[in-house]
Amino acid sequence: MAEWCADHLRNCEGWKSAGLELSTTSDENAKWLDACIRQLVSWSDCTSLGGFHTSIEKLVASDPEAIMARTFLVGLSGLGTEAAARNVEFAKKMDQLEIDAEKYGNAREKRHAKAAILWGRGKHHEAAIEWDKLLDDYPTDLIAVKFSHDAHFFNGNQIGKKNAIEKVIHKWNADLPCYSYLHGMYAFGLEECGIYDDAETQADRALQLNRFDCWASHAKAHVLEMNGRHKEGKEFMYKTEDDWRQGWMLASHNYWHTALFHIEYAEYESALGIFDREIANRFNKTNSLLDMVDASSLLWRLELEGVNVGRDRWRKIEHLSKFIDNHSIVFNDVHLGLAIYRQEDLETEKKLRNSLEKYSSLLSEDNAQISKTIGMPLYDGMLDFARCDYDTAAETMYPIRDKVVQIGGSHAQRDLFVQTLIQSCILSKDPKNWALTPELLVERETLKHDSLLGQRLADKFRALHPL
Ligand SMILES: [Fe+2]
Repeated sequence: MAEWCADHLRNCEGWKSAGLELSTTSDENAKWLDACIRQLVSWSDCTSLGGFHTSIEKLVASDPEAIMARTFLVGLSGLGTEAAARNVEFAKKMDQLEIDAEKYGNAREKRHAKAAILWGRGKHHEAAIEWDKLLDDYPTDLIAVKFSHDAHFFNGNQIGKKNAIEKVIHKWNADLPCYSYLHGMYAFGLEECGIYDDAETQADRALQLNRFDCWASHAKAHVLEMNGRHKEGKEFMYKTEDDWRQGWMLASHNYWHTALFHIEYAEYESALGIFDREIANRFNKTNSLLDMVDASSLLWRLELEGVNVGRDRWRKIEHLSKFIDNHSIVFNDVHLGLAIYRQEDLETEKKLRNSLEKYSSLLSEDNAQISKTIGMPLYDGMLDFARCDYDTAAETMYPIRDKVVQIGGSHAQRDLFVQTLIQSCILSKDPKNWALTPELLVERETLKHDSLLGQRLADKFRALHPL
């Protein structure tokens, strides 16, 4: 798979003739940079190149000083939510890159370095603006396309995500590397803006061009999820499983989407099977926070449905304590807190909450501000629910529900919080809380049509609170 990736990798002259000149004089470095961004965009390994991680090693080895390569790696670490400005080594890399880019980088590289460093230092919204401005001047800059797309996702900026691709896609031609992937990215931006028909058309177009485009499969899964086409969703995911699972960086998340279709039909054993076979193991291999989020989210959703998933399953999400001071994205922290609490490691959960509180009070990073105003109440509300304090959970989460989009992620992912708030209200003893349930159910149905799970929530509400 992905042998296409190794074809015609651009050397220095290739990048220059594409209008994307590099300051490095190493053709090897230029080629490995192309190899890395192509694999990142495809979420998969090119076997001919030895895979993504090998390509990263070769990128660094071929010219350790190259400005664009170092910029790419800073952006990759920051947007991978693995490193933050408070990581000393990462901060040093950014400081040195800032100096070197100014001295040795060309105009485009300086702007790229500025964007990546802004993100790394926690200025997420300014970083997204910089990547978008790069696209105005360099519409075929695949690194700017990818980083802008990811930045908008983490910033909870659906319109930005759609518009960034919309303004460049017609300036590409089909011969450019990774052209087909723009259709998948555009599909996801459209879907998050609720433009479902166009989103599906774009996802299908991407998959016609490249059936291995797991991001396009993912965008289609989102459309089917939000439109209540759960049967079609299941069939699509299983029919194309051999295609999309090759995108190993996204495979866990696409399995998570498959499990959501099962949960809609109350097929809990199937969802648990997916967790056991595909999700828990993947996180323990990749240590990707996206994979941790999927694992935590899936078990929590099953518990909301009344399934006893068992403490051992939660404990399959291993070695979480190393993430407690990360705070790159509070969206991650909330999922992390749930998992650690359910593992009954209360001391570590307390450390995580204290660390998050300290971070959100002391720092001026965008994520710190969002953590303070939205992330902390959300974290507390979710943990209140875990402790069966449904009144406090409802009272904590209800006032911020319209702002939760700012913590990033997708509508489908944030449905975890919507479902938990609705369950909190249903289970609350205070009439003023449970009386909010019908309004919340309508809000959910407006965004996410024909949800069988939504019907079950409504049935539960009527059963516990008959007129
Ligand atoms: Fe998704």
